[in-house]
Amino acid sequence: MTASASAPGVDTSGNPAQLLARFSRIRHQTAALAAHLRPEDTVVQSMPDASPTKWHLAHTTWFFEQFVLGRDEAYVSANPQWHYLFNSYYQSVGPMHARPQRGLLTRPALDEVMDYRQRVTDAVSELLARGDDETLPAIVELGLQHEQQHQELLLTDIKHAFSLNPLAPAFLPDGPRAVTAAAPALAYVPFDEGVIEIGYAGDGFHFDNEEPRHKIYRQAGFIANRPVTNAEYRAFVLDGGYRTPGLWLSDGWATVQSERWTRPFYWDESLDSEFTLQGRRAIDPHAPVSHVSYFEADAFARWAGARLPREGEWEAAAAQLPIEGNFQESGMFHPRAIESSAPLLQMYGDVWEWTMSPYVSYPGFAPLTGALGEYNGKFMCGQWILRGGSCVTPQDHIRATYRNFFPPHARWQFSGIRLGNDR
Ligand SMILES: [Fe+2]
Repeated sequence: MTASASAPGVDTSGNPAQLLARFSRIRHQTAALAAHLRPEDTVVQSMPDASPTKWHLAHTTWFFEQFVLGRDEAYVSANPQWHYLFNSYYQSVGPMHARPQRGLLTRPALDEVMDYRQRVTDAVSELLARGDDETLPAIVELGLQHEQQHQELLLTDIKHAFSLNPLAPAFLPDGPRAVTAAAPALAYVPFDEGVIEIGYAGDGFHFDNEEPRHKIYRQAGFIANRPVTNAEYRAFVLDGGYRTPGLWLSDGWATVQSERWTRPFYWDESLDSEFTLQGRRAIDPHAPVSHVSYFEADAFARWAGARLPREGEWEAAAAQLPIEGNFQESGMFHPRAIESSAPLLQMYGDVWEWTMSPYVSYPGFAPLTGALGEYNGKFMCGQWILRGGSCVTPQDHIRATYRNFFPPHARWQFSGIRLGNDR
């Protein structure tokens, strides 16, 4: 995951003590998530797209060291070689260790990385407490938003690693579980034709890819009241969805063939149970389906006689709603069903929702200046937009205008489906 903030768009008028408390809370939360693991768990890399927990712990720290502490020319890193290890993709600040080989880094050891975290946390806290640099809050806030993104990745990456272990370890074996609930019947909410505005406008934090707010023309259409459920997706599987080429985009069908996909990523062959961060458990038919790729979401929609929403349609619908839902804070780390007669359910939390919109810049987009300009803009090729956050996204990290993006074959994130329709 990648993202960026525009410094002018960050509200720096808040109380410095609040930012210091927020800094401490978010840094602590990352370590608290990692504390559920054994040291051996934190080293493994299960695929090139996923990173070891230890790497996430170090990289989020490197980000503060590079972009906050490193602004002082007199700053000297205690471990200059680690810059190479824990830079992710910022080419303009130097070369980096190859991403697929992050799992080879048995050194530095976990306790050394935790010491590194503490040192950098202390140094940044000291700068914040001093309060004499008015440009500091914006860059610290960006580092915190970045760290929250990596909290989500830490969870999705360890889920992937654990799923490949025949012992099927549970990240949180005794975590809270959702109460049983029956999802409401699928219904469509209509919207009118006309010019609408999307994108971020305001003084709060946002990434550069959410700007500028701009007009789009929206045709009349419909958006589904809730995400697609496991039961609905199971019906697609049982109807031969994965064996019917006419339902798939050409690239999607090629991927189904080459990867031998027959069901969502963590489902067992029986279609009755799935691997979760609480271990293997029965699939809740009413809960939103998750861990499907864009290709699968698109094929399901075609099978269902529908389509995926466009990102502007999604944003206009979500902008009316409070940002509430099943986020990382629930501790469930899994999508859940809810029973409600509200017109639009679960727009936020539970699962990221694929849209049919490619990840491209908004008219007038300007990336951040300097190395942080690499955060978002350079990934605007070959990826698709997802909206709304998931059950492992921190609640205060998400907005109606938030644009997440992944390649169309990716399915190790908590990615699900909300249908749209033209009629
Ligand atoms: Fe990062």
